Amino acid sequence: MQVGIDQIGFYTPNKYVDMVDLATARGEDPNKYLIGIGQKRMSVADSSQDAVSMGINATLSYIDQVDCDQVGLLLMGTESGVDQSKSASLFVKSALKLRPEVRTFEIKEACFGMTAGIMTACDYIRAHPDRSAIVIGSDIAKYGVGSAGEVTQGAGSVSVLLKANPRILSINSGYSAYSADVNDFWRPNNSPIALVDGKYSKEVYLDFFTRTFAAYQRQMNYQVSDFAALVYHLPFVKMGYKANQLAIANQNEIVQKRLEQNFGLSSYYSRNVGNIYTASLYLSLLSLLEQGKLNSDSLIGFFSYGSGAMGEFYSGKIVSGYEKMLTPNTNKQMLARRKKISITEYEQIFNQSLVLPQDNHFLDSDEENGYWYFAGTNQHIRQYKQK
Ligand code: CAA
Repeated sequence: MQVGIDQIGFYTPNKYVDMVDLATARGEDPNKYLIGIGQKRMSVADSSQDAVSMGINATLSYIDQVDCDQVGLLLMGTESGVDQSKSASLFVKSALKLRPEVRTFEIKEACFGMTAGIMTACDYIRAHPDRSAIVIGSDIAKYGVGSAGEVTQGAGSVSVLLKANPRILSINSGYSAYSADVNDFWRPNNSPIALVDGKYSKEVYLDFFTRTFAAYQRQMNYQVSDFAALVYHLPFVKMGYKANQLAIANQNEIVQKRLEQNFGLSSYYSRNVGNIYTASLYLSLLSLLEQGKLNSDSLIGFFSYGSGAMGEFYSGKIVSGYEKMLTPNTNKQMLARRKKISITEYEQIFNQSLVLPQDNHFLDSDEENGYWYFAGTNQHIRQYKQK
């Protein structure tokens, strides 16, 4: 039985900062951000968007095509959690009116959370072939105004439906995982922004990629040349570019060109959205599916990385007719609708996001009709509304 991705949805908030503006404001050469880091724009979430509302909006884009009676599992990976106890997925389940029999919980291991959900969901469907699962990754990356990591912020969510006989990507059994207790990036309970050892985090990422990719090829008896594309967790595009360069070293020109071209296509959305932590790898997949042309059965390799740290490599095969399941124009419009904001406006939004919402103070949203938003708290209970 084939198990894998049958639907995929994406949401990013309606404001962005241009990297040239940010570089100018920080006294940096714009090419450092555009080429050295590889980012062009970053989405900015104001106080009316959080991990929950973005997760609802990403799932909303396909939920009316899903047989909700079949959905048995709803998992949400996030490192922008809204509550220390209650799962973010319960708010999503309520907004989407999923049935009470759904098993639902939140997963945390930095940017690895959505992959952990997808692996759990695949095992669940293999055990319960008549059930489907929704897995969401949703995050706002925050490092701080003027910090080195500022250029690698972003906001957004990707949601997937997994089921038997999927129509987009069939996920192969087998994986290679590698974990170690390291301090490259973390966020203490009392801190709204991430703490990071930036240079060290890049080394750990590449080390975990090298280990898991080599182990996976040994395990599955694959060569680099068997892959049509490799997609990566992209904290910033240059990070994945470096890993891809390691992967294609010593390959012939045809293989190098194919994997380089497909890396370019897979990084298009991230370059324009920024880091969306848990969902970043799946934004790379979406970008590749929508920007590229893939033959059925093309082998796609996935490198997932979560600081702290956990790395995993696995693969999937493109299903014939996958294009019919995509909505590239909707996603193009999603990016095009964003309003460019000034650095002063971005800094105001950022600083406001560091303050906890005042209870019983209701928030409005300037989103388009149909999207969900965080409307403030009532007796410290989070309220979500649809525009
Ligand atoms: N033109 C072109 N390139 C230029 C340039 C110019 N004018 N000026 C500098 N550059 C290049 C540099 O040569 C460098 O390239 P290499 O990496 O190839 O050497 C690149 O721009 C970046 O320059 P610096 O290393 O000097 O940049 P920095 O010290 O200001 O910070 C960073 C970069 C460490 C990535 C920082 O943005 C950061 O801490 N980001 C957050 C942490 C992060 O994303 N880590 C990634 C791995 S962890 C992970 O994956 C989990 C997660 O999601 C967080």
